[in-house]
Order: sequence, then structure tokens, then C-alpha cells
Amino acid sequence: PFPQYRRLRDESPVLFDVQREAWNVFRYDDVQRVLSDHRVFSSQLGGSGGQRQGGLFASSLISTDPPRHRQLRSLVTQAFTPRAVDALGPRIAEIAEELLDRSAGAGEMDLIDDFAYPLPVIVIAELMGIPAVDRDRFRRWSDVVVSQTRAGGVPQGSGGHAEAQAEMGEYFLGMIERRRTEPGDDLISRLLAAQIEGEHLSVPELLGFCALLLVAGNETTTNLLGNAVLTFLERPHLVERLQADADALPAAVEEVLRFRSPVQSMYRIAAQDVTLSGEQIPAGSRLVAWIGSANHDERQFHDPEAFDVARTPNRHLAFGQGIHFCLGAPLARLEARIALTALLKRLPGLALQSQTALERIESSIVFGLKHLPLTWENLS
Ligand code: HEM
Repeated sequence: PFPQYRRLRDESPVLFDVQREAWNVFRYDDVQRVLSDHRVFSSQLGGSGGQRQGGLFASSLISTDPPRHRQLRSLVTQAFTPRAVDALGPRIAEIAEELLDRSAGAGEMDLIDDFAYPLPVIVIAELMGIPAVDRDRFRRWSDVVVSQTRAGGVPQGSGGHAEAQAEMGEYFLGMIERRRTEPGDDLISRLLAAQIEGEHLSVPELLGFCALLLVAGNETTTNLLGNAVLTFLERPHLVERLQADADALPAAVEEVLRFRSPVQSMYRIAAQDVTLSGEQIPAGSRLVAWIGSANHDERQFHDPEAFDVARTPNRHLAFGQGIHFCLGAPLARLEARIALTALLKRLPGLALQSQTALERIESSIVFGLKHLPLTWENLS
């Protein structure tokens, strides 16, 4: 999508799409403003908070405005601080090694199915106190949620097809009930115990947390891993450098986040009339902030089409900005660092399986590969 983005940034930086009834925003400065100015650009897509159409994400953090947003977010920030997340490092490394053990002898794997998808799911499921063995189900739901964004449609308030929604809701209700009777040292138990102004969270709010963390947070990390491996393998000198010096990885991961952003776009509603790049946008309009375009804006980044691990500063918007800044960013960064280090260390001669064409996930929000078949020197 990147060449199209450039033309749009130059010729129509704020463009109304009649079919989707949404204002598309392509330049870095405008995207940054739309994401961070929460008074003007509301995240309550349906306008009426938890009321819209019963979608599982409707009452979740990502679809609420202050003051409720602040209250809900304060309940989970502690679990996701860099310090709290660092404590998960050893377990993440163990999971990465286990997954690689399974494939190492084979000399080939699908990076997505065999590594990049299971890793973040196992981590978050353990954090939440949900059986990681159910991960195939989570994947199905997550695929449904993503497939809904295929045609570039604005989410209509539901987080997926009705059937998957119902199934997901029922599953999480069961998990919540189990934790209610048998509380543990996990996130769901903590959310059940939490109170805001003397009141417990509503069931839709609890479900919203589960759906958001388990479905939305995983897919993105999977795609970060896939995009990173693809980007590295396209540049063999970079693989060598990263294999020799793991300290270079964090900067390389940041550049992947900018260069191939796993989340390409986010939605807002104009809470009042507003002007962006000269276009007058009436109150109530839907907006699409194109993160993927902002991260390639030559007004912000020198030579944006170059993958440059030494880029400083690298103020990409891949995790958003402002009050909705990605809660899982420290976790995603740590997972990427550990997973990619293990992969580069364990699999000498890592390469793309050349005979297969790479297919991208069909979505206007999610940017990643369906599969990424790899080979390496089989030493065993
Ligand atoms: C919010 C991207 C991983 C949980 C966001 C937002 C973006 C984003 C762009 C902002 C949404 C907005 O402004 O409306 C990503 C990317 C990831 C990633 C690119 C991986 C590379 C994760 C993980 C988790 C997570 C691992 C959970 C463990 C959340 C939550 C929010 C959020 C809960 C909502 C925060 C709020 O509304 O206050 N993410 N995310 N994300 N992300 Fe992530």
C-alpha cells in the first residue's frame, strides 16, 4: 500500500470516501492529532459507549472516552508496565525455546503457524488465567474479526460475525464465572475484584477486556514477528549483523514497526466540527487515521522507504499516541526481542522457502502475512 499512500499524502491528505462514509487522514501531523486529541476525536464509535449493537469490543478500553476510559485503563496499567512485563521475560524465552524445539529438527516451518502465532497467545492466556490449549479457538475468532475489515469497511460496532461473537462471549463468560468461584493470581481474577467508585465492572466491560486482550493484542504481535522476519531475511547482511549483536535488535524492531506497521489504521468519530489540512469535517463524521501512511511520511521521516536500523529519532505511530497508546507495547517489544533473538540464534542459515508466493492478510487494518515458510540448515 505504500506507494499509494504517498500519492494520497501529496494530493489528497484528507480525503472523504463516499462509499465508506469516512474521512481518510494520511499525513503524519494529522494522524498524530487525530489519534491523540481525544476531546475532538472520540473513540466511542457508536457515539453512545457500550450501547452500540452489543459488539464485544464496544465496552472495551479501545472504544471508550474519558472519564470511563481512564478508570478502566487504571485497572490494568500495573499489569503491563515495563517492569511487570520484564518479569515475564524468562517464561517468554521458555515458550520460544519450546516452540523452536518442536520445529528445529525438521529444517522447515511456517513461521506464522508454528511460532509467531502461538507465542503471544500462550503468554497472554497465561497472564489472564485462560487455558492456552484453547488457542485454536482464539485464532478462529481473531481471524473472523480481522476478515471483517477485509473490504476496508469501518467496523460497524460488532467485533466479528454474529456466530463467532456469540461463541466468544459464551467462552469468556464461562472463564469469568470460573474465576469468580476460584480466584487466582491472574488478570481476570483481579478485574473481577476491582471496583470503580464502589462498583464492580459490568459484564460487558469484563468481556470487552477479555476480547481485546486475547484477540486484538495477539494478532498484532504475530504480525510484528512475521513482518520482522520477512524484512530481515530480505536483507541478509542485516541477519548477520543481528546474529552477531543481539543488542541491535530493539532498534531493528522499532524500524519494523515503522516500516511495516502491524496496525495500518485506527478509527475515530469527530466530536465537533474540525478542520484538518484545510478540509472541514463536520461533527459526527467518521475518520480513519492511516498509521501506515504516517509512518512513511517524508515530512517526518528522511528517506522513509529505506529500512534504516540506525534511524534516530524514530517517532513512529505504530502503537498509536495519547491516552489510547497501546497498553501492550512493552509486552509486544519484549516478546519480539526474545522471540527474534531465539530464532536467529537457533536456526543457522535461516532463509525464505523460495518457491512459495507470500500472501498478505486481506484487511485494511491489519498488515501481515498469512504464512511465512522458512528453511534452515538442519544440523540434527
Ligand atoms: C491499543 C497497536 C500489541 C493491547 C493499541 C493502539 C494501537 C496498537 C495502534 C491504539 C488504538 C487507538 O488509538 O485507538 C499494537 C501493535 C502491537 C500491539 C502494533 C504489536 C506489535 C498489543 C498487545 C496487547 C495490546 C500484546 C495486550 C497484551 C492493547 C490495548 C489497547 C491497545 C488494551 C487499548 C488501549 C486504550 O484504548 O487505552 N494497540 N498493539 N496491544 N493495545 Fe495494542
